[in-house]
Amino acid sequence: MFNGHFERIFSTMFLIISSLFVHIAFLVSVVDIYFKSPIVHNIKPQSSPLEAPARRLVLMVADGLRADSFLGADDLFKTNASHLRHVIEEREAWGVSHTRVPTESRPGYVTLIAGLYEDPSAIAKGWKDNPVEFDSVFNESRYTWSWGSPDILPMFAKGASGNHVYIDMYGSEVEDFSGRRSTTRLDTWVFRKVEEFLNHAKTDAVLNEKLHQDKIVFFLHLLGLDTAGHTHKPHSVEYKENIRVVDAGIKRIEEMIEEFYQHDKKTAYVFTSDHGMTDWGSHGAGDKSETETPLVAWGAGVRGPRPSTSAEPSSPASWRLGHLSRSDVSQADVAPLMASLIGIPVPVNSVGTLPRDYLEVTEHHLSELMFSNARQMVAQYNKKRELTEAGSLSWIYKEFSVLNRSKETKLTDQIRSHIRAKRYTESVSTFLSFLCV
Ligand SMILES: *[C@@H]1O[C@H](CO)[C@@H](O)[C@H](O)[C@H]1NC(C)=O
Ligand SMILES: *[C@@H]1O[C@H](CO)[C@@H](O)[C@H](O)[C@H]1NC(C)=O
Ligand SMILES: *[C@@H]1O[C@H](CO)[C@@H](O)[C@H](O)[C@H]1NC(C)=O
Ligand SMILES: [Zn+2]
Repeated sequence: MFNGHFERIFSTMFLIISSLFVHIAFLVSVVDIYFKSPIVHNIKPQSSPLEAPARRLVLMVADGLRADSFLGADDLFKTNASHLRHVIEEREAWGVSHTRVPTESRPGYVTLIAGLYEDPSAIAKGWKDNPVEFDSVFNESRYTWSWGSPDILPMFAKGASGNHVYIDMYGSEVEDFSGRRSTTRLDTWVFRKVEEFLNHAKTDAVLNEKLHQDKIVFFLHLLGLDTAGHTHKPHSVEYKENIRVVDAGIKRIEEMIEEFYQHDKKTAYVFTSDHGMTDWGSHGAGDKSETETPLVAWGAGVRGPRPSTSAEPSSPASWRLGHLSRSDVSQADVAPLMASLIGIPVPVNSVGTLPRDYLEVTEHHLSELMFSNARQMVAQYNKKRELTEAGSLSWIYKEFSVLNRSKETKLTDQIRSHIRAKRYTESVSTFLSFLCV
């Protein structure tokens, strides 16, 4: 339908919208410096008017899985992640998700699921002492069911208003760092619970009805690899065995879910980790082994494999993925990706920008998604500006008021009318004159 000329216009428009993101993200973070917490309340959620490509999302996070351990293979070109490996080759989009320091679990999950980077002083104090409630993909979902560790799940249920985020956790006695019992129990517990849950739903009419609605999330928190890495180190047989168990479990979960939904092709899957792990079994700092985590997405709304281009980051030879397009993201970008797949608002305090490379939707749909992500950031920026102006630091703030209210209103109105009228060229110069001052 679109010829080359239109494609060029589209890609220019997307470039410009991206620069809008970067610009606003920069402004948001500048204003952030003057705040104790990046979390601001009472921001209106923004959503795209179009029907989402997926009705449900399965988020699986292998705690402490570094990109290299998952994607690399041994000298014999064998890998223990054979299922995920196969789907990367056949039907996935993949890349490295870059985390920030400190590479700890709680900030990692907050970044993935809420799209925000926690304030370092809050991290130092520990979440329990600083129970700020925050918006998240789970809160914006219609329902979220989650399984995993009591250290992670409760904070997302706590931030969610109403009773729509369900958690099922093992007792802390199951977590055993002594190395006497296999760490894979933490993961097999989760896989077993999901299986029981889906079986139960077949006979529970109320649950079944909920499960057949759209905008729902399943979250599988898989802690085994983190424990295996701390106890046995990432090059150990135990860590590799745990990768095998996670890979096989994911294969099984996908089969069960597809069967449950009768292969309706409306499920999106995202697999990633919160942080990596050094060779000596630690994390927290900024080494590549700690900050590089795998991101793989497949299913409804996600593009299939594409040949790589020269502009992409190169991967270690042992990954043997040089032929496939690699789409790296910042960890916070996973939140808008997940929100866009199931058509819910991006969490209001998110600083993530939609990694459009992962999506397979029409250009119109993509521009709506990007526009709602931009509006979400503008709303956040405005709220922060309001608070800053009301505060005592308004004299510092003045230096940064590049994007004032009237300018911003004009900008968003113009983008909206351009998208509506499919006048993509005009929007380009508008964006440029407003933003690149
Ligand atoms: C959770 O979502 C609801 C509905 O969008 C919103 O009103 C509420 O403020 C959110 N919770 C937090 C902590 O932001
Ligand atoms: C797969 O895991 C086993 C342990 O279960 C390990 O001995 C083997 O080296 C691993 N293979 C690869 C390719 O990592
Ligand atoms: C907003 O910024 C634009 C351009 O930077 C300027 O022309 C306009 O006067 C400003 N408006 C207000 C209310 O400060
Ligand atoms: Zn850990």
